[in-house]
Amino acid sequence: MAEDNLLNEIAAIVGRARRPVAMTGAGISAESGIPTFRGKDGFWKDEDVTRLATLEGFLADPHKVWEWYDWRRSQIRQTRPNPGHFAIAEHERLVVGRGGSFTTITQNIDGLHAMAGSHSVVELHGNIWYSRCLKACTTELTHLPSTPLPEYPPPCPRCGDILRPHVVWFGESLDPLVIEESLRLAGEADVMLVVGTSSQVYPAAGLPYVTKRAGGMVIEINLEPTELTYSADFSLHGRSGEILPDLLSRAREFAE
Ligand code: OAD
Repeated sequence: MAEDNLLNEIAAIVGRARRPVAMTGAGISAESGIPTFRGKDGFWKDEDVTRLATLEGFLADPHKVWEWYDWRRSQIRQTRPNPGHFAIAEHERLVVGRGGSFTTITQNIDGLHAMAGSHSVVELHGNIWYSRCLKACTTELTHLPSTPLPEYPPPCPRCGDILRPHVVWFGESLDPLVIEESLRLAGEADVMLVVGTSSQVYPAAGLPYVTKRAGGMVIEINLEPTELTYSADFSLHGRSGEILPDLLSRAREFAE
C-alpha cells in the first residue's frame, strides 16, 4: 500500500509534466536480452573487448573490430523492444498529443527506442546500424542494416576508404551538437526519468544534475542503487520493463 501511494505520487508528477525527458542506459534493453556493460556478466568485464572499442584497436586491426561489431549486430538483430521501451514510446505520443514535448536521450546504440515507436530520440553514443567514413570524406552516415556484412571492413560508398562503426569509443568525445542538444533538453525538462543506467559515464551521468539545477525533478528507475540515487528526488528499484508500464499508465490518469 505504501508503495502504491509512492507510485501514485510519482505518477502525478510525471503525468502533469509538459517537457519530460527519459534518459536511458543499457538496463532498459537488458530485458530484451542485450547484456549491460558493468553487471556481473557485463560486456566490459572482458578486458580484450574494452581494447576493441578504441580507435587505436580499430586502426591496428579493422577486420577484427568489424568482426566483433558484426557479431554484436547479429545479437542485437535478434532482439525486440520490451514493455519498458513501448511504455516510453506511448508516453511520448500522449505528451506530444496534448501539446507538450518528450524526448528520449539514450546511451544505447541498439536502436530499440525507435523500433518501439519513439520519434524524438537523441543517441548520445551513436547507433550500431550506422557507419561513417574513417577519413570523414562526408559527414553523412551510411546505413548498414544487414548482418553479416559481405566484407570486413566495409568500404565507404563515396570514397572507397573504410567505414567505421558510428559509435563512440573509449577515449573519444561525443558529437558536440549532440551534447548541446541533450544539455538543452535536460535544462528545459520539468521531469527526467533516469532508467537503467549506472550513472558512471559522463557527460550522460551529468544530465540529471542539469535538470535538478534548473528546477526539474529527477526520478530514477534501476534494479539497484547507483551514483545518482542519493541526489534523485525519487528512486524506484526494480525492472524497468515492469515499473515503466505501471508508472506511465498511472501517469496518464493525472495528465491534464
Ligand atoms: P551499465 O552497464 O553501466 O549499467 C546498467 C544499469 O542498468 C545498472 O545500474 C543496472 O543495475 C541497471 N539494470 C540492469 N537491468 C535492469 C532492468 N531490467 N531494469 C532496470 N535497471 C536495470 O550501463 P550504462 O549506464 O548504460 O558507453 O553504461 C553507460 C555507457 O558505458 C554505455 O553507453 C557504454 C559504456 O561504456 C559506450 O559504449 C560509449
